[in-house]
Amino acid sequence: MYLDPEEEKILAGENGETRQKMMELLVALGTVFGAERLVPIRSAQVSGASYKTIGEYGLAWLSSLHARAVVPAVLNPIGMPRERWKEMGVEPVFAERQQAVIEAYERLGVNLECTCTPYYLHETSFGDHLAWSESSAVSYANSVIGALTNREGGPGALAAALIGKTPCYGLHLEKNRKPQLIFTVKSDERNWGIARYGALGYFAGKLAGNRIPFFKGIRPDRDQLKALGAAMAATGAVAIYHVEDITPEAKKNRYDLSGLETITITPTEIDRIFSEIHVDAVAVGCPHCSPDELAVIARLLKGKTVTKPFYIFAAQGVIDKNLMTVNIIEKSGARVYADTCMVVSPVMERYSAIMVNSGKALAYVPDMCGAVARIGSIEECVSVATS
Ligand code: F3S
Repeated sequence: MYLDPEEEKILAGENGETRQKMMELLVALGTVFGAERLVPIRSAQVSGASYKTIGEYGLAWLSSLHARAVVPAVLNPIGMPRERWKEMGVEPVFAERQQAVIEAYERLGVNLECTCTPYYLHETSFGDHLAWSESSAVSYANSVIGALTNREGGPGALAAALIGKTPCYGLHLEKNRKPQLIFTVKSDERNWGIARYGALGYFAGKLAGNRIPFFKGIRPDRDQLKALGAAMAATGAVAIYHVEDITPEAKKNRYDLSGLETITITPTEIDRIFSEIHVDAVAVGCPHCSPDELAVIARLLKGKTVTKPFYIFAAQGVIDKNLMTVNIIEKSGARVYADTCMVVSPVMERYSAIMVNSGKALAYVPDMCGAVARIGSIEECVSVATS
């Protein structure tokens, strides 16, 4: 792999031991995946932030590093809201270790916005090279924005943040971003909300595996695309997809789709994913809520009182800009928490069945929280939480 003179110096240890280690990691990754060079990145998003997932070993590794990020870098959700962890019921022992993880990242110059939706906080544009690691953020960046990122592991994203570059392979190359499979979705008369797109992604991801899908027959908005991509990245390994006449690369490129396998998806197949099991908590905001999603929840909750725990997750920056909306939601007894989510917070392990409006959460809650998961529309989630 070609390195310019500055990169060679870092590899030789002239800029400190941590930078040297990080460059070694990037070169190793690039060599394994056949990269010819490194490419500068606009931002990094670093997973491996919840103490629930990285534990003492991860914390010890982070604590051994001594360098600062040279590009904007944000963290993935952690195991608790930084400010309101007591109110959420997080154990002090966990909070203390989680705090140590946050401080380790802070020392490394990583911004403590802990979110899987960094695109709501930092401008990210078509054609930007990134090193993001959370799978739904990667899917959104590649598919909805038209930026270019592989799905980085936590250490790879952190190395890219500290060096400002990432190996140029995989989805950083246009030739690897073309459709490999067609999904034709049979539409029906119903209005397809976010949950239904999440369920579609849940179903389609299993069929796609690691192939790049090209969807026909749907017209999702941005929040619906977010739900679709997040779920496909959870049940499959889909890091980029295209939707005919909707996503930027599908609009820009005239893809040759001849010869690709075509799979037809019917409304009945999506209906089967919805169930009516009894739940003891409701959680939405996977991926973290957009301002529009918060507004819908506020409208549905206005004047009502919740009768079971109702968690809503969003980035702190989004909450701060929508305080009136958040106040309406919280008047009902529901809680809007930043920094964490229903999958990475240990608090959710106290429930036996959780209702979500996300195909990704539907896929992850059983293993990560030990709870049964049920998917429903946001209207159904509010109805269950308030009845
Ligand atoms: Fe984000 Fe947590 Fe879902 S990281 S995509 S809210 S599982």
